[in-house]
Amino acid sequence: MTGLSRDAFSDTVKHYRKLHDDGETSSDERKGAYSTLVNQYYDLVTDFYEFGWGDSFHFAPRFKHEKFRDSLKRHERFLARKLRLYPGMKAMDLGCGVGGPMRYIASHTGAHVTGVNANGYQISKGRKHNEKAGLSHRCEFVESDFMALPFEENSFDAAYGIEATCHAPDRVALFEGVKRVLKPGAYFAVYEWCLTDNYVASDAEHRRIKKEIEEGDGLPDLAHTSEVDQAFVDAGFEVVETRDLAGDGDPETPWYLSLTGGDMSLSSLPRTPIGRTLTNGTLAIAEKLKLVPEGTKQVSDFLNAAADALVAGGERKIFTPMYFVLAKVPE
Ligand SMILES: C[S@@+](CC[C@H](N)C(=O)[O-])C[C@H]1O[C@@H](n2cnc3c(N)ncnc32)[C@H](O)[C@@H]1O
Repeated sequence: MTGLSRDAFSDTVKHYRKLHDDGETSSDERKGAYSTLVNQYYDLVTDFYEFGWGDSFHFAPRFKHEKFRDSLKRHERFLARKLRLYPGMKAMDLGCGVGGPMRYIASHTGAHVTGVNANGYQISKGRKHNEKAGLSHRCEFVESDFMALPFEENSFDAAYGIEATCHAPDRVALFEGVKRVLKPGAYFAVYEWCLTDNYVASDAEHRRIKKEIEEGDGLPDLAHTSEVDQAFVDAGFEVVETRDLAGDGDPETPWYLSLTGGDMSLSSLPRTPIGRTLTNGTLAIAEKLKLVPEGTKQVSDFLNAAADALVAGGERKIFTPMYFVLAKVPE
């Protein structure tokens, strides 16, 4: 599991927990240690994610008539359409995970997609998925921190980031780097994890939900939607469109439905409270029997706490994982 040795896994769990312990580490220190924080997080959770989610690690608005996977693909098509991608274009996927969205967007639009990801374990898995899908010539992984993009100026016709730029310690610096490698007139679109206007910083319950989302999802500090807007402006982009998509979809099927068990099926089981409890119990026994490394149950615990916090944030409408921004490099 995870490509880490047993000891490295256990040490990584301890170090990761410490980074999120407010008694030990401040939010500024977490931002300073973002690279370790995010990488350790994805070393620990990628297998859990693939088990529960498949190869696209994001949310989507949900409709009653539509299966979970179809909703993810629709959400990916929405971005591709907004970016006006077509065959022959060169696009960049910031924080591409194991490449589910990249493979779908490349095959759906005919564009070439370069996925940037700092996590070597995800890239090694993603390259195998590309080969299996016969898409290695159209989808390329580059192992790099997206805060220091290793590309020439004006290299790309478009860029996007799906629930990934929320990991950045400094959005303005990140967006400036993206603007540098985009051509004039190119579009850049993101789905951002954000706090909404309903978030009240003086409310202890709201603060607890924010903290559990951060710890369980490897984030240094969640930003408000207005901070994301401002970061695009400060980085020199023209903001074309901004919208929280969390209210799209059917009211009875909110974006966090799959975490509540509201769309129960065999394939959705690992994401539901029952499935998560079963996985948690199995891992606790496996850890006692030394079948999995020490700390595995702790990872499952903080992922569960985060899943509950995401539902609580969604129900209270204080948090969204789909704040959509479309921006353009000035001509
Ligand atoms: C929630 S996952 C989303 C993955 C992908 N966009 C998807 O939807 O399947 C966030 C991704 O951002 C990547 N990431 C986070 N911080 C990064 C950084 N500083 N540089 C490069 N990639 C980063 C993580 O490794 C992970 O692959």
